[in-house]
Amino acid sequence: MTAKIISGTEIAKEIRAELKQEIAELKEKHNLVPGLVTVLVGEDPASQVYVGQKEKTSHNLGIYSERYDLPAETSQEDLMALINKLNKDPKIHGILVQLPLPKHLNENEVLFAIDPKKDVDGFHPVSLGRLMIGEPDYLPCTPHGIQQLLIRSGVQTEGAEVVVVGRSNIVGKPIANMLLQKKEGANATVTICHTRTKDMAFHTRRADILIVAAGKAKAITADMVKEGVVVIDVGVNQIGTTADGKRILSGDVDFEAVKEKASAITPVPGGVGPMTITMLMINTVRAAKLAAGLI
Ligand SMILES: NC(=O)c1ccc[n+]([C@@H]2O[C@H](COP(=O)([O-])OP(=O)(O)OC[C@H]3O[C@@H](n4cnc5c(N)ncnc54)[C@H](OP(=O)(O)O)[C@@H]3O)[C@@H](O)[C@H]2O)c1
Repeated sequence: MTAKIISGTEIAKEIRAELKQEIAELKEKHNLVPGLVTVLVGEDPASQVYVGQKEKTSHNLGIYSERYDLPAETSQEDLMALINKLNKDPKIHGILVQLPLPKHLNENEVLFAIDPKKDVDGFHPVSLGRLMIGEPDYLPCTPHGIQQLLIRSGVQTEGAEVVVVGRSNIVGKPIANMLLQKKEGANATVTICHTRTKDMAFHTRRADILIVAAGKAKAITADMVKEGVVVIDVGVNQIGTTADGKRILSGDVDFEAVKEKASAITPVPGGVGPMTITMLMINTVRAAKLAAGLI
């Protein structure tokens, strides 16, 4: 069997076209323009790229965007003051603080200070608590993107054995929780593996749907999956550099070997990555509609 490739690039394009239409209608019918602010502290090159992509996507869709690029030595006090100011700004519906923050800053204190109504990254305890009880306002972007990839590719999650590798707060735990909910696009039996799991292959071989967010290149090999599995590879690992200096990326799955056994698989790049930013835009539009009392 050679797997169908689940293209996040294509699915994200489809969702963005729908969203662009919705944003145009919000402006026309309600004079409402969703607003997103990104806050970047320091000069981490990868973070600069991500923030740039978020700004560009906002612009392309018709979302108002503001960007704060703060020096690496910014104090906790100054950052907290900025968050408080943005919490009160009516043009801004969503606040995104790009992670990781420089080591001297207390990340949780900053994330917890964001008004939950503007928590478009979905990392605030209120957002995660709501997700857990099945009443989410904002789903965290990468897990939301994964769920949309499954739904829009017609993958049946109800009753499926889902195995998630990784238990981070931003990917593993929330996606496991989302797929556990008694809802459409969920209703699965979920197992979570991590570095203390005794026999990981025992679990991964049982999976109808395998979601891997470990951050270890090619950690999942063909002998660890069953025929017909659907594989969502979240990992982004740099495994080298091309002669002209471009990064060579690999997922957490040995794509070439596993695609011969899987029924469907996401590539890296072009799988989960493009979905993450798209879900941030969806959350920003939702935040604007909530603020305007439209939902
Ligand atoms: N495409 C996107 O939009 C996107 C978004 C977010 C993340 N990512 C990528 O996804 C990957 C995971 O990100 P993250 O933030 O969730 O990572 P993280 O915080 O480093 O967490 C990794 C998790 O995987 C587990 N793990 C690591 N190696 C393992 C192994 N060999 N066997 C079993 N479990 C293992 C760890 O277990 P312990 O808890 O026991 O340490 C941990 O729970 C990274 O490559 C990241 O770049 C991509």
